[in-house]
Amino acid sequence: MNIVVGITGGIAAYKAVGVVRALVLAGHSVQVVATDAALRFVGKPTLEAISRNPVYTDLYEGVAEVRHVAIGQAAELIIVAPATANFIAQLAGGFAADLLGNTILASRAPLVIAPAMHTEMWQNPATVANIATLRERGIHVVGPAIGQLTGKDSGPGRMSEPDDIVAAALAVVAPAAEPGDLDGRQIVITAGGTREPLDPVRFIGNRSSGKQGIALAVAAAARGAEVTLIGANLEVDAPAHVTVEHVGTTLELAEATHVAAATADVVIMAAAVADYRPDTVAEGKIRKETQGDTLQLNLVRNPDILHDLSAARRPGQVIIGFAAETETDPAELLLIARAKIARKGCDYLVLNNVGWTTGFATDLNTVTILNATGDIVGEATGSKTTVADRILDVLSVRS
Ligand code: CTP
Repeated sequence: MNIVVGITGGIAAYKAVGVVRALVLAGHSVQVVATDAALRFVGKPTLEAISRNPVYTDLYEGVAEVRHVAIGQAAELIIVAPATANFIAQLAGGFAADLLGNTILASRAPLVIAPAMHTEMWQNPATVANIATLRERGIHVVGPAIGQLTGKDSGPGRMSEPDDIVAAALAVVAPAAEPGDLDGRQIVITAGGTREPLDPVRFIGNRSSGKQGIALAVAAAARGAEVTLIGANLEVDAPAHVTVEHVGTTLELAEATHVAAATADVVIMAAAVADYRPDTVAEGKIRKETQGDTLQLNLVRNPDILHDLSAARRPGQVIIGFAAETETDPAELLLIARAKIARKGCDYLVLNNVGWTTGFATDLNTVTILNATGDIVGEATGSKTTVADRILDVLSVRS
């Protein structure tokens, strides 16, 4: 899911790092929008490293991409932690004084706030009235907890613990899809990109991060499936509750996938697979001194895993392939996709357009789903989680 975490300027801002981290580990794409005051309490580099995204604060940066509304429009959930008394007052008044205020006003996503302040401020009639206004508008308020505050005092006002905030926020957006519609289905999902070694330190690889495959694994597990994720050089952490097998090369991926597919109801080949591998792998490092001005590589064909799985599938087993294409003309793209389905023999093909800046390693995706005869049976655009659910809907309808 595409989640915005807003951070405002209170001591508890350091705990917001835990909120961001928990969401990222759960497979969500997190965009941090911090106020200037928040960055006095917690460093931008820390938030960027933990969220794996740039952190924005300034209303007047990124104007060309209309960032002050774009972030809010793309959000599926907004969490503000900590929410200071001042921020709560601004929110109640509908002010858009900074990027966070704009983001919230420009969004239709559910909003969850975790207040943090001293007891006197929390109990001040102004704050009490503001919180009542926010609740009336359907804004979810988590906490504050009662406990030790920043000074010697203690009482209500302490920000709730990061895990509690995350659990409460995710409960607000409980899956729209029927949970349990894939109950007991055994689903094998490949993710990431294979790498073919040239020597002990180099490889031929691709730019797939594994995010879409991981989003599929998380969504399928949430819908009751028993998921085996086969990850080729994943660049993001795999979810803790899904069985993961790590592989490196195409041959390793092929072997692991065929073994897992033998008992699976569904196989989804979301991995970007190297079609060729060097015919020999150098024992030691390839050096310029011995190669001179040119280096010739001999590559040999790898097996086509999707084709072989489709050819060997058992009755009732469903095989889904992906096609990442750079063709930009929609009609031409469909022709390429239809030819690919015919060649691969799979039941469905998820078509997405990739380029230098789209598709790979990003958090958003746009796909078209085709069936075996090349008809469009689904389309989705949004976060990789949204796209994952639309792909799984195809299975749900079929069962
Ligand atoms: N695939 C596979 N084995 C390969 C290559 C690709 O299983 N050796 C799978 C991918 O996981 C994906 C689908 O086939 O689900 C399409 O991958 P793509 O790279 O688009 O197809 P290619 O067969 O490599 O075709 P192209 O010539 O367009 O690269």
